[in-house]
Amino acid sequence: MTQRKSAVILGAQWGDEGKGKIVDVLSGHFDVVARYAGGHNAGHTVIISGKRFVLQLIPCGVLRPECKGVIGNGVVLDPMAFLSEVKKLREAGLPIEGGPGGQLFVSNRAQVILPYHRMIELAAENAPGRTKIGTTSRGIGPAYEDKMHRNGLRVVDLLNPSLLRTHINNACHEKNTIAHALFGTEPLDPKQMYEEYARAAEQLAPFVTDTAVLLNDAIRAGQKVMFEGAQGALLDIDHGTYPFVTSSSSTAGGAVTGTGVGPTRMGTVIGVTKAYVTRVGEGPFPTEINDSSAELLRARGQEYGAVTGRPRRCGWLDLPLLRYSNMINSTEWLVVTKMDVMDECAEIPVCTHYKVDGKLTDTIPADMRGFDLIEPVFTTLKGWSCSTEGVTEFERLPLLAQEYLTFLEKESGARIGMVSTGPDRDQTITLPAFAETLSA
Ligand code: IMP
Repeated sequence: MTQRKSAVILGAQWGDEGKGKIVDVLSGHFDVVARYAGGHNAGHTVIISGKRFVLQLIPCGVLRPECKGVIGNGVVLDPMAFLSEVKKLREAGLPIEGGPGGQLFVSNRAQVILPYHRMIELAAENAPGRTKIGTTSRGIGPAYEDKMHRNGLRVVDLLNPSLLRTHINNACHEKNTIAHALFGTEPLDPKQMYEEYARAAEQLAPFVTDTAVLLNDAIRAGQKVMFEGAQGALLDIDHGTYPFVTSSSSTAGGAVTGTGVGPTRMGTVIGVTKAYVTRVGEGPFPTEINDSSAELLRARGQEYGAVTGRPRRCGWLDLPLLRYSNMINSTEWLVVTKMDVMDECAEIPVCTHYKVDGKLTDTIPADMRGFDLIEPVFTTLKGWSCSTEGVTEFERLPLLAQEYLTFLEKESGARIGMVSTGPDRDQTITLPAFAETLSA
């Protein structure tokens, strides 16, 4: 069987690029959508016929009955969050099932988030003397810490009651002691925790399988897999703006380790970038806007976190960071989202380079001090000042909007494959060369 082209799709910036909608639109071209990193800190908003779905863990692919969803081994899974999402989807009329003939599968090697992970994270984030990251408080970091410390609980072990009981007893003893000693936190009750999680395990069991085998078999059988990233490349634990990052490999490399499919099977890499930039939480943001234009973008773009509701920081397009993101991911295609949000901007500054000590540079600093020294250099493009909402053909965009996109493409080093002109599935432009790649 010839191998058809799979794809990794990921956020090119700090998350919230609008991947949910794009994965949903593209999932029509794929047989399987597999999440490879993060947990329920991600929030993918999808609007179908005016109905809004926010998915945090489950890949949006499952919104199409013919598409399978996989939660890969690189994900940290909160069983309660997973089950409540399944319930929500079923209530919306989607018959989500696991097992043979089912649509949704969870890796037996994924790590489990337990209540003490949240307890430790909340206490540590608020502790004096610690660098506040502004996390989503979902226990993501501590769950990955336990994974790397070889002290975590995997899904396969969650399904084994006696192992689960021993793990919870030992872990609670350790975490309660640490949290109390360091932060004065009240202890969690291991007996109650065991009972809740043993019940959850029973409901989770039908979804659990060896997803690396499932994915490799699917590819060998000629199926196409979309490897769905969460967060964005600049929140990657290695390549992002450390320490203001998440705790997983959100870049394209994470798709390999996070699913058990090797790099030669990944196909292409698609980066999703907003036409501008946003960030939630703390950390450097060279093109952040500090005047009323930020409010305009925030209001028009509904820039509030899908998971936490926090207002997002807004900024102009940052080409040095986009080029960096395209480099570390080997991004071939870009999808530009939220084009219509800039319809009312009379002028659009775009950062083309950084200046450090009076010299132009494209180097992305590894340390936070380096970011403090950056002076962004802007080119100001003329805004198109008319509606692009719902436009579905590139040629029907106002000329100045076309010029903006052409400039972005030329400067970023990747080809634009799609442009999103509104939140609905249909408000999308697909460029012909990209459509050809998708149908291969
Ligand atoms: P954590 O992933 O909850 O540990 O949070 C670490 C950082 O990543 C914080 O700045 C969060 O705001 C950010 N973050 C985590 N998930 C997302 C996301 O889905 N979109 C945008 N930012 C995120």
